[in-house]
Amino acid sequence: MSFELLFYLFFLIFFVGIISSIVFWTIRNGISPMPTAPAVSKTLFSNLSFLNLIEGKIYDLGAGWGSLVFPLAKEYPAKPVIGYENSLIPYLFCLIRAQVTAGRNVKIIHKNFYNVSLHDASLVVCYLYPGAMLKLKAKFEKELKPGCHVVSNTFTIPGWTPYDVWKTNDLYETKIYVYRIPGSISKT
Ligand SMILES: C[S@@+](CC[C@H](N)C(=O)[O-])C[C@H]1O[C@@H](n2cnc3c(N)ncnc32)[C@H](O)[C@@H]1O
Repeated sequence: MSFELLFYLFFLIFFVGIISSIVFWTIRNGISPMPTAPAVSKTLFSNLSFLNLIEGKIYDLGAGWGSLVFPLAKEYPAKPVIGYENSLIPYLFCLIRAQVTAGRNVKIIHKNFYNVSLHDASLVVCYLYPGAMLKLKAKFEKELKPGCHVVSNTFTIPGWTPYDVWKTNDLYETKIYVYRIPGSISKT
């Protein structure tokens, strides 16, 4: 076998491996690593500064390729920003991105976000799907402290009433739902 053929074979196996991993985790998670659209991201970041965040960490549940977690870290340099991602290829991509561009306050963790505690969150950001929002509702109700904000791109938390809805001026008029955990706010 010639060196050239070996090279192409290696490249093909590598490429098929990457695609298979993304497809596998998309099926398993019920959602692909599709990033938040730039117009929606613009709406999100132009409104975020109006939120009065309590003390605590910022979580992106399902960091994907890092489209939100890195801008979040830039927007809030004094807060730890954590992105959970269990799909291997987007996670590795975020790891490289973190080394190249990110500030010290960002951390990308290869974990299933249903298995981590969110008790120390001040802001939780997500772009998932209806089934995940239903599952997360119980987790949020159990773990999030009063005053914590939840910001969800496109999908509502069933049974919760958002206190604000940010609308994007795009073809779908994409909405971002903004929630805050009720109760007296402790500053820890
Ligand atoms: C639609 S993408 C959103 C990416 C990014 N947050 C954004 O808005 O640009 C959803 C991501 O969540 C990840 N995900 C879904 N369920 C997960 C879970 N249980 N644990 C960790 N990551 C998960 C998927 O792999 C995918 O990359």
